[in-house]
Amino acid sequence: MTANQGSLTIAGCGLHPGHMTLETESLIKNAEKVLLVAPNPLSIQHIISLNNTTEHLGKYYNEEGISRPDIYKKMAMHIVDLVRNGVQVVTVFYGHPGVFVTSTRLASNVLKNEGYPVKMLPGIAADACLYADLDLDPADTGCQSYEATRFLLTRRTPDTSAALILWQLGLTGEHTNDHFKPGEQGLKALSRLLAEYYPASHKVCVYEAPTLPGFAPRIDWMTIEELATADVNTISTLYVPAGNEPTFAEDRLAWLGLTEADIEHWEEYEEFED
Ligand SMILES: C[S@@+](CC[C@H](N)C(=O)[O-])C[C@H]1O[C@@H](n2cnc3c(N)ncnc32)[C@H](O)[C@@H]1O
Repeated sequence: MTANQGSLTIAGCGLHPGHMTLETESLIKNAEKVLLVAPNPLSIQHIISLNNTTEHLGKYYNEEGISRPDIYKKMAMHIVDLVRNGVQVVTVFYGHPGVFVTSTRLASNVLKNEGYPVKMLPGIAADACLYADLDLDPADTGCQSYEATRFLLTRRTPDTSAALILWQLGLTGEHTNDHFKPGEQGLKALSRLLAEYYPASHKVCVYEAPTLPGFAPRIDWMTIEELATADVNTISTLYVPAGNEPTFAEDRLAWLGLTEADIEHWEEYEEFED
């Protein structure tokens, strides 16, 4: 990278100030220009205190009558313009900056095509917090992850032997792009779809990681039926635990040149035999 060449580094600050990595903190301190989207005042204050060039892109959300896609395009164009003007930009988004973040993805695609250096650093995302707060290991059952409305509006069969995470629960069925709440029938439709695959008694969890250090997460277990009228907001994520055991693919042992005796010691294998 030459001195006057613009560049983009995309960093994530986690969901609260305690999640900031040393690498990201050092990057922010040394950045020529910082563009920020963070959900809580403490993170904002912390980042501004690290670098006084920090500009909060949340301002685009306040523009009257602007739709969500237009907000993201405006953010992206602002990033692209600065880099094209030779600025070495660091964008800081909450959580992991590459997980469900449209504006950085748009800007990154444009800039990469134009030959600018673009790099992303990981951050602590909502699902990482969910694993910790619900005491889960996605390795146990496997884990599927979808955006809630896309999950509803695409024909796919969920694997009920694996966990399911649905992001943007608070925007389920919101088709106008103008509101930050579920569409009128959103949660009812999601509950109906899940009931096609899971027993009525199956419990799901509306989860919200704390956005301030020291606060408790929201962990609301409810039946799929109750989900239809659940109280959700823009930071709610839905966790659906696995409902049944997977089937053991015994025939594939031969693909590995193994026999059942070779994997007898596997805990998972013992479960398959139940
Ligand atoms: C636009 S995405 C951004 C995700 C973010 N980049 C991340 O890495 O977590 C917003 C969605 O992330 C999830 N999310 C964000 N903050 C959360 C929180 N505090 N607790 C649980 N889920 C959260 C929700 O599903 C929300 O609708």
